[in-house]
Amino acid sequence: MTVLLDAPQIHERIVSLAAEIESDYPPDDEIHLVGVLKGGFVFMADLIRAMSARVTLDFIAVSSYQQSTRSSGEVRLLKDVDARLEGRHVIIVEDIVDTGLTLTYLQDMLRARAPRSLKTACLLSKPSRRKVEVQVEYVGFSIEDRFVVGYGLDYAERYRNLRGVGVLAPHVYA
Ligand code: IMP
Repeated sequence: MTVLLDAPQIHERIVSLAAEIESDYPPDDEIHLVGVLKGGFVFMADLIRAMSARVTLDFIAVSSYQQSTRSSGEVRLLKDVDARLEGRHVIIVEDIVDTGLTLTYLQDMLRARAPRSLKTACLLSKPSRRKVEVQVEYVGFSIEDRFVVGYGLDYAERYRNLRGVGVLAPHVYA
């Protein structure tokens, strides 16, 4: 395992992302974060704690890579949000944007619920892997085409609990 981003680096970036988000919305408006399970839960937990008391949250779950390091391109909704999104400032909180297929699916689905605004925050982005153009307003780090784990991201459900983000040695998943 090679460390790509350590915990202090991630923390510092999240604090500045949170400040940027806060300054983009009128001061008294609620900001409703929708975390994408499972990978996005660690990022979500740190992001909300770097934000002010006007933040509210919900979760949604979609299927992603099943025991593999490559996306099948098929997205399945496993759990919907609990509360209505109509008229709210919504931000989708994702761990990583790879091909962009998952996010496109989520954005289309949530936009249809008439939020007042809809934006996306992702901790990591792999721009070279995009299959579809997708808008992401807040990106923590852009990275190269490497399969990464840790800080919520898994390989076959493992390594989500690592405090940093690392690259697995190729023989682990090739
Ligand atoms: P996309 O639909 O191809 O953009 O894939 C998005 C989802 O794939 C993410 O939410 C992750 O769950 C998963 N994913 C993409 N790249 C990686 C990676 O490098 N490590 C772990 N999971 C990844």
